[in-house]
Amino acid sequence: MQLFAFFSLFAVVRAVVIPAVQPSGHSKSTINADAVPQGKNHTINGVLTYVSLPKQKFDPTTAVLLLTDVFGLPSPDNLLLADEWAAAGFATYAPDYLNGDALPSDGLDNVTEWEVNHGEAQTTPPLLAVISALKLRGVKQIATTGYCFGGLYTTRLVQNNTIAVGTMAHPSSLNVPTDFELVKAQSHVPIEINNAELDTGFTPSLAVVTDGVLGDGQYAPGYFRRQFDGVGHGFAVRANASDPVQVAAKQGAFDTSLAFIKKHLK
Ligand SMILES: *[C@@H]1O[C@H](CO)[C@@H](O)[C@H](O)[C@H]1NC(C)=O
Ligand SMILES: *[C@@H]1O[C@H](CO)[C@@H](O)[C@H](O)[C@H]1NC(C)=O
Ligand SMILES: *[C@@H]1O[C@H](CO)[C@@H](O)[C@H](O)[C@H]1NC(C)=O
Ligand SMILES: *[C@@H]1O[C@H](CO)[C@@H](O)[C@H](O)[C@H]1NC(C)=O
Repeated sequence: MQLFAFFSLFAVVRAVVIPAVQPSGHSKSTINADAVPQGKNHTINGVLTYVSLPKQKFDPTTAVLLLTDVFGLPSPDNLLLADEWAAAGFATYAPDYLNGDALPSDGLDNVTEWEVNHGEAQTTPPLLAVISALKLRGVKQIATTGYCFGGLYTTRLVQNNTIAVGTMAHPSSLNVPTDFELVKAQSHVPIEINNAELDTGFTPSLAVVTDGVLGDGQYAPGYFRRQFDGVGHGFAVRANASDPVQVAAKQGAFDTSLAFIKKHLK
């Protein structure tokens, strides 16, 4: 009995919910003002979704589901990132799971207040509506790539075995290690994480805790994590074009997730 109490106390103490990061805590973008998103907005099963299709011939039975950060579809960086996935050969869908209420990227540091109306109860239904529509349209394998806030939902979709493969960068709002223990206990979906050395949310030490759960072959479906040094939260979405470290990290995160997805799709 005493031993049990000791272990449950231990579990409670070491589990950490990663806080959402304020707008000012994200990497800043210097996107080219002439960069025009190539995709189009569609309403899919009642949900506004940015859709970017490859210019070349593509496999209509696979799709990338891009789960944005808190800045959502109004942030051109998110749309251009979806275009990069399309250019890599995947029909790419970025649903507005923020229900038309993204945080302004140049707004006040108000994420805590914003989160009240963007919990899983509000955010999951539009996400699942788009997934079920894609499946009805004949998509057999969904690869999810989630950024910051989208990392939580990628992990949920992995836990629920809804998708074929899940990748994420600088995830927030997860409970570490509890959420990854749940992955290990109930999922058969491969999972990949890109983390930032300077992230104050999913810190390098939480990344190491995650490795302790999924790493070293403990998670048979597949696990890979890569840390990018010298960059902070948001680096996989936004980079300062005059900072070669940021530019290389953003590209490196993309390439790492792409390679993992290609390896694990059938
Ligand atoms: C899609 O919708 C978002 C959110 O309303 C908007 O900011 C964006 O400019 C739209 N993009 C396109 C290509 O129409
Ligand atoms: C903070 O965000 C909430 C939800 O988006 C909004 O209703 C509220 O007006 C914002 N507060 C400030 C001080 O900007
Ligand atoms: C995952 O499953 C749980 C338990 O059934 C459910 O509450 C949750 O909404 C699901 N989340 C997603 C993203 O599918
Ligand atoms: C981008 O980096 C340059 C060179 O370090 C710096 O002068 C500039 O302020 C940065 N821009 C942003 C938006 O952070």
